[in-house]
Amino acid sequence: MAKARSKQADADAAEAMDIGLSIDKRSQSAKALNETLDGTYSLMVLTHVYHWNVRGPLFGQLHKLLQEQYEALFASVDEIAERIRQLGFDAPVNPGKFPSGIQMPGSLPDEFGMVADLKRRNEAAIRTLRKASSDADEAKDYVTQDLCNKCLAHHEKAAWMLRASLDSEQRDGQ
Ligand SMILES: [Fe+2]
Repeated sequence: MAKARSKQADADAAEAMDIGLSIDKRSQSAKALNETLDGTYSLMVLTHVYHWNVRGPLFGQLHKLLQEQYEALFASVDEIAERIRQLGFDAPVNPGKFPSGIQMPGSLPDEFGMVADLKRRNEAAIRTLRKASSDADEAKDYVTQDLCNKCLAHHEKAAWMLRASLDSEQRDGQ
């Protein structure tokens, strides 16, 4: 039977890296990336669910837009998780706890409600990532910062596209 690695073995392996970033700095980046991974995974699932269930006159456009967005988010989660590994830590493996940020609505909103919900969630991701990018810069963890900036660019574009899909009344009402 395969033996599980001990926490100490993981800590020793993380400690053994010599890349000019202290274990504290790497740990701080990994923690921020863990939160980003959780939020990105949640948003990916929700975007996928809305892609399936959207209906109404804008079905074709929104179905396609949301597909592009969940596919981009899937690529992001892979990069985020692999960056956590590069920093010397495990990507989340807690069944039942990951992703934690997803709250599926009891009944699905209409198409404009879906768009407004995704816009809000992308904007929340932007705020989180802006801080993570700035913290990574301060820690001189430039690779993590680049990844945060890449994710920021995705979310800012996604939020713009979603915002542009709502008229002013729908934006104000949300
Ligand atoms: Fe599909």
